[in-house]
Amino acid sequence: MAIGFFDKTIAGSIGLIPKPIIRRVASRYVAGETLEEAIEEAERLNADGYRVTMDLLGEAISSVAEADAITATYIQILDAIQAHGIDGNISVKPTAVGLANSPEDLERNVRKLSQHAAASGNFVRVDMEDSPTTDDTIAVVRRLCAAGHDNLGWVFQATLHRTRADLEALAGVGPNLRLCKGVYLEPEPIAWQSYDDINASYVDLLRYLLPRRDHFVGIATHDDPMIDAAEAIISELGLTQDQYEFQVLLGVRPELRERLRDAGHKVRVYVPYGRAWHAYCVRRLQENPKFAGFVTRDVLRNPGMLLGDQSKR
Ligand code: FDA
Repeated sequence: MAIGFFDKTIAGSIGLIPKPIIRRVASRYVAGETLEEAIEEAERLNADGYRVTMDLLGEAISSVAEADAITATYIQILDAIQAHGIDGNISVKPTAVGLANSPEDLERNVRKLSQHAAASGNFVRVDMEDSPTTDDTIAVVRRLCAAGHDNLGWVFQATLHRTRADLEALAGVGPNLRLCKGVYLEPEPIAWQSYDDINASYVDLLRYLLPRRDHFVGIATHDDPMIDAAEAIISELGLTQDQYEFQVLLGVRPELRERLRDAGHKVRVYVPYGRAWHAYCVRRLQENPKFAGFVTRDVLRNPGMLLGDQSKR
């Protein structure tokens, strides 16, 4: 799907949309502002048969103290997950927990989170951000995995040309990974640009990863052709639930997660929350015209969400 004039126009105008409307739109995709609201959402999702991943929304940070404060909040999230018996883990943005300052700060904070999570048998995934952060993120997670932090996972983006080579080079290290298309707009020399090329790359990576059986693969997509390809490979190889799961974002195509769950797959829902929801939504909408287009089409299809329908279903 190419990024169209409609999407670009909407993305360019997001800053003009009143905050209450953005809030209504955000309420579908964000669990709330507080940890309590996020835990309630996680409990509802667990009761419906889904695993969760908790994600604290943050604005761009500029100091070590801020990264350390975000890390401390993630420790509270891990404690709340344990206290409430949630079937869920956490996902952290590298820049938010240290990389905005230095790879050393990222390593220190991810180590702390990994150690804290390990004490309750939990798991930490390090998200992948835009391409200037890729090398440092991979290097830090690789070092920690090599040092025995086996409850760490990472993310690879089908959009980037480098991903297949990265996966080949990293075979056997950090065997729990998420495969996504990649949400960032990346320049042509390093990234596939068209829907068809990105999809071809995604399926190629699935065909590389799933038969290896030495990775746990989080198949993070809402795109039917990708899901169909994954299901075909899973069934062809007779993969079991300890080798893969599907991963989706809260509020995006809820009927898809139901279908996958009902077909017997494990499904994990990514649950973002936090006071920074407005800046996060505006930034995400502005950064990615395609995302802005999805949301706007969704609002046009479901005008009830502007009239107070807070349903995330
Ligand atoms: P595609 O973009 O083709 O979308 C398929 C369909 O899904 C669309 O037609 C639309 O209906 C719907 N859709 C998709 N996204 C939507 C949205 N935001 N709102 C409304 N509808 C939407 N990226 C990254 O760079 N680093 C990361 O760490 C992660 N982490 C991550 C975790 C999880 C659990 C998921 C599901 C996704 C990510 N992503 C990510 C985002 C990912 O890279 C990608 O940008 C989005 O998932 C959209 O791509 P799809 O594969 O869904 O296909």
